[in-house]
Amino acid sequence: MIDSSDLRMKRIPLNHGIGQMPALGFGTLIPDPAVTIAATRDALEAGFRHFDCAERYGNEREVGRALQAGLAAGRIARADLFVTTKLWNTNHRPERVEPAFEASLDRLGLEYLDLYLIHTPFAFRPGDDQDPRDQNGNVFYDRDVTLLDTWKAMESLVDHGKCRAIGLSDITLNGLLTIYESARIKPAVVQVESHPYLPEAELLEFCQGKGVAFLAFAPLGHGIKPGLLEDPVISAIAARVEKTSAQVLLAWAVQRGTAVLTTPKSAARARENFDISTLPQDAFDEINRIQTRQRLNQVVKTGVPGFIP
Ligand SMILES: NC(=O)c1ccc[n+]([C@@H]2O[C@H](COP(=O)([O-])OP(=O)(O)OC[C@H]3O[C@@H](n4cnc5c(N)ncnc54)[C@H](OP(=O)(O)O)[C@@H]3O)[C@@H](O)[C@H]2O)c1
Repeated sequence: MIDSSDLRMKRIPLNHGIGQMPALGFGTLIPDPAVTIAATRDALEAGFRHFDCAERYGNEREVGRALQAGLAAGRIARADLFVTTKLWNTNHRPERVEPAFEASLDRLGLEYLDLYLIHTPFAFRPGDDQDPRDQNGNVFYDRDVTLLDTWKAMESLVDHGKCRAIGLSDITLNGLLTIYESARIKPAVVQVESHPYLPEAELLEFCQGKGVAFLAFAPLGHGIKPGLLEDPVISAIAARVEKTSAQVLLAWAVQRGTAVLTTPKSAARARENFDISTLPQDAFDEINRIQTRQRLNQVVKTGVPGFIP
């Protein structure tokens, strides 16, 4: 294999905020609290410095505990970490944005966030119920707030200094364009599902043209079987370059200029997923030619999270 260290250390410049975002990120969508703490600790140990959280994951306290333990051990400084969390759909009303942000910050035990994302462009009925539905199971959407109203409240967080950068998640290119054109502070990051079965080429091209960082989730296809990890092209490349399928998929994502979030839940997998290296050009091109198309998470269509139990 060629050059083993470049992709692991790659950083993506942001159009605002301080510093850059490590391309390789650890996702904290982990339902079990004890597993959250152990997996976050293992990710830190393995070398991950970018942590993706969300109010909706219900485990910011546990992620915070693991990060605090890492910081207290003294080998890692807060400035070395890049921590993101997300505003949930029930908090889109402008007056709810800062309280939701402060509550997340408090649960994480941090004094500032590197990145705050609007989790989805769908506003749900405001309140404590994160999944408000009528008796037929239909979501109560909130029609009295626009995404731009919410975005302006996000911009104020940057003005006040506790949040370094802001962005969007689960957004389409059209949705991004609407905010991009009107925003005083342009989105720094867009987080969407992306992998070889969902390359999102048009959105990626727009982001790269405008200096918006593209952050891919479910790069391993969320571990759904059969899926990307068993794809014959990926498996054959993995055998050829003496890496695992997971390492090939993560390397491809970083090599195409995106940042990526993965959720290893054991120390061995954390080390494996961090240990990526540049793919030979022919392997990279072969992955780009995969024709299978599949969206695994429908959150982008409804705002209802696909992978949260
Ligand atoms: N914005 C959004 O709406 C949104 C939606 C979804 C996710 N996200 C973010 O993106 C992050 C990543 O998404 P994801 O969890 O779908 O990522 P992923 O890494 O594609 O999928 C995780 C799954 O892959 C398996 N896995 C991890 N490493 C592996 C390896 N080396 N070999 C084989 N299997 C492996 C895990 O299995 P085990 O469980 O057995 O370890 C788990 O089932 C989330 O944690 C979250 O932060 C955001």
